[in-house]
Amino acid sequence: MYFQVTRIKGTTYLLTQAGGEGDAAGAGEMLSWSQVAERVCQRPGVVMIVGPVDSGKSSLTCYLARTLVQAGVPTAVVDADVGQSDIGPPACIGMGMAEKPPQTLGDIRPSALYFVGDVSPDGYLVDMALGTQAMVRRAQAAGAKAVVVDTTGSVYGPAARRLKEATVEAIGADYLVVIGDEGSLGHLLAAWRGRTKPEVWLVKRPAEARVRSRVERRNKRALDFSRYFEAGGPAEVAWEELWMKGGFLGAGRRLEDAERRRCEELLQCPVLHGERFSGSVWLVVEGFFSKQGLDQVKREMSVAYVGLVRASAFHGLLVGLGDANGQTVGLGIVEAVAWHERRLTLWAVPAGYRPQGLCLGRVRISRTGEELGRLSPGDLGGAGA
Ligand SMILES: Nc1ncnc2c1ncn2[C@@H]1O[C@H](COP(=O)(O)OP(=O)(O)O)[C@@H](O)[C@H]1O
Ligand SMILES: [Mg+2]
Repeated sequence: MYFQVTRIKGTTYLLTQAGGEGDAAGAGEMLSWSQVAERVCQRPGVVMIVGPVDSGKSSLTCYLARTLVQAGVPTAVVDADVGQSDIGPPACIGMGMAEKPPQTLGDIRPSALYFVGDVSPDGYLVDMALGTQAMVRRAQAAGAKAVVVDTTGSVYGPAARRLKEATVEAIGADYLVVIGDEGSLGHLLAAWRGRTKPEVWLVKRPAEARVRSRVERRNKRALDFSRYFEAGGPAEVAWEELWMKGGFLGAGRRLEDAERRRCEELLQCPVLHGERFSGSVWLVVEGFFSKQGLDQVKREMSVAYVGLVRASAFHGLLVGLGDANGQTVGLGIVEAVAWHERRLTLWAVPAGYRPQGLCLGRVRISRTGEELGRLSPGDLGGAGA
């Protein structure tokens, strides 16, 4: 047993390493890219890359994948950066096998996706951790001996810390590589102090790493979405026949027409659709509604909560399309809703393909990928966590 001392912004952290004699791997040990690659090549496993935005996470992920493939190690990359995706479209966690040594992560073809629903992990910690786990498992089932996991640049604050901790546990990370030379990421290391799994390594942010503006990042997302939605055509789906996740839609008992009309009368606005479950009622409305009417709806329907959703919240809503196993097979945009027929028109679905399930997202986009708006946790009756 030995101790390693790391200085973080003037504070000295004692990082205890319970390694055997001569074991060079220390929690928080500073390594170069090539040293990281060498160690992973010697004992392949699950490597999680963590760092702020534009710190070289994707570049290091690609370098590791390339080096591992060149060394003959069957390697997969899981891209869990839902905001700046390299493998698969944004709002998804993507997984691909690195068949040839990749020059960029974009060279890796996605072989599995997990729809998270937003381009930021905020409010999606459970989905992020479980989705990353699902993709690592798919990679291992496909024969990967090394899985390199790229993550979002969200590294400050309690939610970021919770997400990294949960993800490390969920994927059984063998190695955690933290990029950061300012030591501001010390809070992320605390959970692993004295542990042998994962081994924690620090890597300097490359001086050459280029900083991108928010606008640049948003434009990249728009381009990625627009490319994704180029192929395919419109498809109509009846949501009552599908498995449904991410909101109230399809979750409850649909209101009878008479009940719906009574709500219209009380709220003094069009009520296009309503569902009732768990002591609450959810109504899709248009225009302005009467606040007094809302209390009256609560009383007459004997519910503790009435959720009002504007019909416009569905315009351009990004959704995940799923198969019968619940796996994400692609993305769609809600372009129209026929409320009375309970059908959605989605863009863009391959000809003849019908999804078995839908997961509602929380970002609204156009076919060309512009962000039309973001919904807040709970807006559609899903819970943020
Ligand atoms: N070692 C490096 N040498 C040269 N350029 C780099 C290096 N690392 C990163 N970059 C550049 O910096 C930018 C940000 O790197 P990237 O890997 O995309 O960061 P992140 O994935 O953390 O956002 C990219 O344009 C990338 O090409
Ligand atoms: Mg990246």
